[in-house]
Amino acid sequence: MRNFTEQSITDAALARITPECDPRLREVMTVFIRHLHDFVRETRITQEEWLKGIQFLTECGKFCDDKRQEFILLSDTLGVSMLVDAIANPGGPGITESTVLGPFFRENPPVVPNGGDLAPGVAGRRVDVDCRVTSDDGTPIAGAQIDCWQSSPEGFYDSQIGDGEAHNLRGRLTSDKDGRFWFHTTLPAAYPIPDDGPVGALLRAMGRHPMRPGHLHFWVQAPGHREVITHLFVKGDAYLESDVVFGVKDSLVVDFGPQTGPQHTMRYEFRLKKAA
Ligand code: BEZ
Ligand code: FE
Repeated sequence: MRNFTEQSITDAALARITPECDPRLREVMTVFIRHLHDFVRETRITQEEWLKGIQFLTECGKFCDDKRQEFILLSDTLGVSMLVDAIANPGGPGITESTVLGPFFRENPPVVPNGGDLAPGVAGRRVDVDCRVTSDDGTPIAGAQIDCWQSSPEGFYDSQIGDGEAHNLRGRLTSDKDGRFWFHTTLPAAYPIPDDGPVGALLRAMGRHPMRPGHLHFWVQAPGHREVITHLFVKGDAYLESDVVFGVKDSLVVDFGPQTGPQHTMRYEFRLKKAA
């Protein structure tokens, strides 16, 4: 077939997918092509604008290396990461809700014993963290592995400080026989996502700020249970309503205590769904 029109080209592009195509790839690409063509038709995109879009994606690619993933930032800031997360992790009554992983997770963080310090040598408002890991029926889970990471009081992760090699503000803990794990740290600050690349420029062009409210990241894993990747957000933070990556859920906003006065203990129970 030839002589395609604005309308007929969509079916023609779909018809080029051969019967040998993996069925799931066929399903995904069919919907993708259909929506992409509709997008072009609906916006009446110009050739200059289309080229600009391609240049933007090219810049995103050039910005990527083993430490920087501009396409994930793009997905995060357009709300797509949280949409994919919502589909993958529907949760359930009382189950701890999930949120984005983010780019600052690192494999094999330092092991921190219960009662240890996640932020040794870091100045700032101190906070005690006292948490529990339980199963969906409330039974404590002993031996759960908890990775925790956070920003400094200035809003930087360890990988953004100095040569980025030192591990700080992060650690791996294990829950005790009562499902408890506890540590000391500093209050995490609100911070901008890395916005010196094309995604930052796009945010500015859309009149958006790059800020995330202060939070601690948690990745909780326990045998026989669905893992949860989530954050606990600082109650009262100015950016809770406008988190640049749409990651805030009410159930994840907790009291980290006042900025002054006696040191506060932040408490939370991570409730994990039994694996099917
Ligand atoms: C973070 O919380 O570390 C994060 C999440 C998404 C994009 C950038 C940063
Ligand atoms: Fe973060």
